[in-house]
Amino acid sequence: MHAEANILTISTIDQMQQESARLLDAGKTIAFVPTMGWLHEGHLALMREGRKHGDTLIVSIFVNPTQFGPTEDFQDYPRDLDRDVTLAKSVGVDVIFAPEAKAMYDKAYQTHVDLEMLPRHLCGPSRPGHFRGVATVVTKLFNIVRPQVAFFGEKDYQQLVIIRRMVRDLNLDIRVIGVPTVRESDGLAMSSRNTYLSEEERRSARSLFQSLQQAQDSLAEGITVAGELIHGASEFIGSKPHVQIDYIAICDPETLEDVDRVEGPTLMALAVRVGKTRLIDNAILKPMED
Ligand code: PAF
Repeated sequence: MHAEANILTISTIDQMQQESARLLDAGKTIAFVPTMGWLHEGHLALMREGRKHGDTLIVSIFVNPTQFGPTEDFQDYPRDLDRDVTLAKSVGVDVIFAPEAKAMYDKAYQTHVDLEMLPRHLCGPSRPGHFRGVATVVTKLFNIVRPQVAFFGEKDYQQLVIIRRMVRDLNLDIRVIGVPTVRESDGLAMSSRNTYLSEEERRSARSLFQSLQQAQDSLAEGITVAGELIHGASEFIGSKPHVQIDYIAICDPETLEDVDRVEGPTLMALAVRVGKTRLIDNAILKPMED
């Protein structure tokens, strides 16, 4: 454990638990932002929001192995703790918790948190085990850090819905706050994985956000049939180089079940592989008021 100016970096679970117990005994409220590091403006927005809600702001940096599939980018995922600590410090984070994987999951580890229905939709089928890994690590982090309030980005919309459901189902006394997606100037949703994109892929990647905007425009023109909106997005994204669409869905924002028509606030979510990089984005489509 070491304090760098006024930020404390903790790398063991015991020390984090002791620090949280000390803070709670002193009557402090803990705001928590879990991350996998390689921080960008999207993460900093979560932290700025967190700063407003707690006496102490704790950020975890942990590239969680259990949420990556065997062919996914766990090994290549960008990591730079010193850079992350500097960025976190710039937005007033008090404590960074950066545990080792072998401490989080020892050799005999065998307990997981799994949801029944929500992981079956959207990203679930192409990322088997992903949400089980997320729900498990977030539960563990909640138990170690003991926050009263935690922040998640709306960019990972399915993850946010899953965490909210899990908190309700397991009666965790934690308020979950969703924070709007932060975008590059051309609309691309910020993601640590954007760093993998070549210049040409980066141009194609803009089509994700553009297709969501186009769907909202079509809706404003009276097209409410989900299939037509999905077809439009699919044609548009599919016309760009290096892309392979994983899914484009229009669904209920709470159950994530597909809908046939957009009749109230409805989630449009998509996942697209651009080159080797899998990108996701979403928007809540809102039909015009009568
Ligand atoms: O959104 C992420 O960065 C991760 O899924 C999370 C919530 C930190 C769990 O590892």
